[in-house]
Amino acid sequence: MTGYRLTRLLPPDHLHHALRADVRDGLTGEPKRLPPKWFYDARGSELFEEITRLPEYYPTRAEREILTTRAADIATTTRARTLVELGSGSSEKTRLLLDALRAAGTLERYVPVDVSESALESAATSLTADYPGLDVAAVLSDFTQSLGLPDGGGPRLVVFLGGTLGNLLPAERAAFLTGLRAQLLPGDWLLLGTDLVKDPAVLVAAYDDAAGVTAAFNRNLLSVLNRELNADFEPEQFDHVALWDAEHEWIEMRLRSRRAQTVKIADLGLPVHFEAGEELHTEVSAKFRRERVERELFAAGLRLADWWTDDEGRFGLSLSRPFEDGSD
Ligand code: SAH
Ligand code: TRP
Repeated sequence: MTGYRLTRLLPPDHLHHALRADVRDGLTGEPKRLPPKWFYDARGSELFEEITRLPEYYPTRAEREILTTRAADIATTTRARTLVELGSGSSEKTRLLLDALRAAGTLERYVPVDVSESALESAATSLTADYPGLDVAAVLSDFTQSLGLPDGGGPRLVVFLGGTLGNLLPAERAAFLTGLRAQLLPGDWLLLGTDLVKDPAVLVAAYDDAAGVTAAFNRNLLSVLNRELNADFEPEQFDHVALWDAEHEWIEMRLRSRRAQTVKIADLGLPVHFEAGEELHTEVSAKFRRERVERELFAAGLRLADWWTDDEGRFGLSLSRPFEDGSD
């Protein structure tokens, strides 16, 4: 049995250093806010997989529909030898691309990049078993710090699915795309999945499902703080809130304190007071229109080559490639 490789780009003290800094900044600011990467401990990654199967959560199914129809085109156009996936999670939909690139005869290596070690391990293990001969080179990294793109092995196809780009704030998004563009070489490609603006009722339901799985996912962030920083959050004392911000065209996820309470974060020696009804901002999920995707890619030095949606026009998948300054 050949295994997969795992490269750790997260510093060993990641949880203790970066999490502490984020919590200290985020819970002493106004409004209180935490970055979304801390959702994804082992339990968080499991809960996200459950979200992808909920009847209300259409993005996974819509994106899978597009990949099913377009994977062969993507393989023919890109002729990728290396497939790099940022925020790969379970890598389930990615199998459609792996299959198509194998059929085209170009694929040699798959590089899943994720901040969740448990998600990486289980995806890499099953892919190694199901794709004999494929070099699976997993990278444990925070893609806002280090992308983990391997040198060589071009053409490289970098894929960023699931609408995860929309979880970055606009300035972070621009920095991320510019940083990614700087590492791409002629011949490389970016395949980007973005959820699209639609009826707010449909959007809100996708982030506030009837079974309460998204609520559990949101509250899991508090359990991560309890475990990693010896905090004493009572997750049931916070309500899950998902609302549509029409001005920014994003869904906002928050945790709303049910009562006035003071939480202690023992490892930071930090008491954090919440007023009754006060909200902790946990995540945005931006929704796009084609023009915005094209414009933001272009601003980062990437030119749109293809744009596809599912039949109902709920989700967009774009294929773009770097262009040189001054060439157009
Ligand atoms: N691509 C999968 C999973 C999307 S969920 C899909 O489309 O279904 C978002 C994934 O990104 C999770 O696996 C999470 O662990 C990972 N992630 C979130 N923030 C990250 C960061 N800053 N760096 C690396 N991975 C991150
Ligand atoms: N990338 C996913 C999205 O924006 C992440 C996600 C889905 C999520 N449901 C969530 C994040 C609920 C926080 C809370 O759709």
